[in-house]
Amino acid sequence: MLIAQISDIHIREDGQRCCGWVDTAPFLAKAVDKLNALRPSPSAVVVTGDLVDSGSPAEYARLHALLAPLAMPYYLVVGNHDRREPLRAAFPDHAHLRSGPFVQYTIDELPVRLVVLDTNIPGQHAGELCGERLDWLERRLAEQPNRPTAIFMHHPPFKTGNIPLDRLDLSGKERLAAIVSKFRNIHGVFCGHLHRAIQARFAGTIAMTCPSTAHQVHLSLGESSIMAFDMEPPACQLHWWDGHSLVTHTAFIERFDGPFSVQTGERIEIRTDSIHGRAP
Ligand SMILES: [Fe+2]
Ligand SMILES: [Fe+2]
Repeated sequence: MLIAQISDIHIREDGQRCCGWVDTAPFLAKAVDKLNALRPSPSAVVVTGDLVDSGSPAEYARLHALLAPLAMPYYLVVGNHDRREPLRAAFPDHAHLRSGPFVQYTIDELPVRLVVLDTNIPGQHAGELCGERLDWLERRLAEQPNRPTAIFMHHPPFKTGNIPLDRLDLSGKERLAAIVSKFRNIHGVFCGHLHRAIQARFAGTIAMTCPSTAHQVHLSLGESSIMAFDMEPPACQLHWWDGHSLVTHTAFIERFDGPFSVQTGERIEIRTDSIHGRAP
């Protein structure tokens, strides 16, 4: 069973560009094509926030249209660039987005239970998990303490070593760690926000961030204080459940040459349905 994750798609209105430069909609269209072509097909796609760039109804309407061709169910997470009410209004078919004051919900139909958290603070770029949101998480996790579970949210609960990024902290992460560490069934905390693939140990499990479908945050470790972006290749993350654990593959979205036989160098076609289709 495969769960795909895309993140930080930052859709803007037609004719507008993100950061004054990036036309994000065609990048999302390529990501949708990639996910639809994957074999085995993902059972679900989770989009971990910064769904749009300013939070306007027009942006969410465009997002809805761009995600419509996805061949599998998709689940939305709010980021710091999102606004809850325009999001809910644009996705009336996603009733779980309106299940409480925050955009927090569980998806229970898959072999791995998905728990989605809302780290948004309206009007700010930092993140927060307040007492109410964390109480909700604790209750949900206590419902099924032995069921394989994955947590999805926008802001990661770890420092990166990139000083500009680390200023946009997630308050409440200490209590999040205390809650998560009480459970042995949490197979990962899967985040966005950083526009890069980064992993860190967290509360007895692993936490990681997903690249953007469009622009990536410039790799900068140390004291640099300038936030910048690069057009590094966009990527998604593919979380493969083998019945016991989740294994995450970072997969680039752009087309590239191959595959080639390692014996002959000839171009070959590889069918993976028969290999992976039997797994749970
Ligand atoms: Fe973002
Ligand atoms: Fe963000």
